[in-house]
Amino acid sequence: MENKETVLITGASSGIGLELAKVFAFHKFDLILVSRSIEKLKELASVLKNDYEVNVQVIEYDLSKSGAAKGIFNKVKSMNLQVDMLINNAGTGIVGFFHEIEESKDLEIMQLNMITLTEMTKLFSREMIKRKRGKILNVASTGAFSPGPFTAVYYASKAYVLSFSEALSIELGQYNITVTALCPGATRTNYSKNAGKKDMPNAMNPRRVALAAYEGLINNKKIVVPGIANKILIRLPKRLVSKINFKTQKKLSISKR
Ligand SMILES: NC(=O)c1ccc[n+]([C@@H]2O[C@H](COP(=O)([O-])OP(=O)(O)OC[C@H]3O[C@@H](n4cnc5c(N)ncnc54)[C@H](OP(=O)(O)O)[C@@H]3O)[C@@H](O)[C@H]2O)c1
Repeated sequence: MENKETVLITGASSGIGLELAKVFAFHKFDLILVSRSIEKLKELASVLKNDYEVNVQVIEYDLSKSGAAKGIFNKVKSMNLQVDMLINNAGTGIVGFFHEIEESKDLEIMQLNMITLTEMTKLFSREMIKRKRGKILNVASTGAFSPGPFTAVYYASKAYVLSFSEALSIELGQYNITVTALCPGATRTNYSKNAGKKDMPNAMNPRRVALAAYEGLINNKKIVVPGIANKILIRLPKRLVSKINFKTQKKLSISKR
């Protein structure tokens, strides 16, 4: 299948975002890759151009800074590019007791996981509305379905992403724009290390997550939960899951508490 559509992926320098970039390049989509690690992005771009003969542009941006979405939107305009599919994947978290975590870390998580994601969606969906065509994938988490004691702000941010995406899928559906919330469970990426914890022993391969996300997006699914175990997890009672979450997050935490 020949494709001339362009997909913008935030957080494409590692983990799920990097695997999404590979999957979309395999399917002949052109790409705009965004993250703070420009060298990693350039390296990935050169591999993808070579392996799949697609156009790949890279943008270095810290998405946890206020105004980041507008900055990226303007950059894309200045490159004369059109975003047909938007993937808001970049995200971060931290484990620990809420009262002990620095306020600046909470703000970084909220800005990146919710505010930039929301502003990116607003700016790029307006363009999609004009064209009456487009697709948006927002990366939430299985954590969106229950509270996450010991990682409270992160789980709450993902509950926001899920609710926001479900609401917009109805609003934007009138304009032929689909919105999909991807809800992965534990996945073997840099996420855990950056959040101050070890990976779950059964953490999923990010490639599997990216393949499930691609299938879901292309088939206009509203919510994608990769893996059977995760599909069961999100159906368990919230109270039970939040107790399990508390124990698990504390056990996996790298700092001794
Ligand atoms: N891994 C899991 O267990 C898991 C489970 C559920 C949901 N998720 C979600 O999946 C998404 C992808 O995470 P991942 O697991 O693939 O983790 P990852 O390997 O740490 O990748 C995170 C990506 O986000 C980018 N990023 C982080 N902070 C950024 C910032 N301030 N500005 C721009 N880019 C930034 C990183 O790039 P740079 O560092 O180069 O900027 C990186 O490319 C996140 O939204 C995460 O919450 C992960």
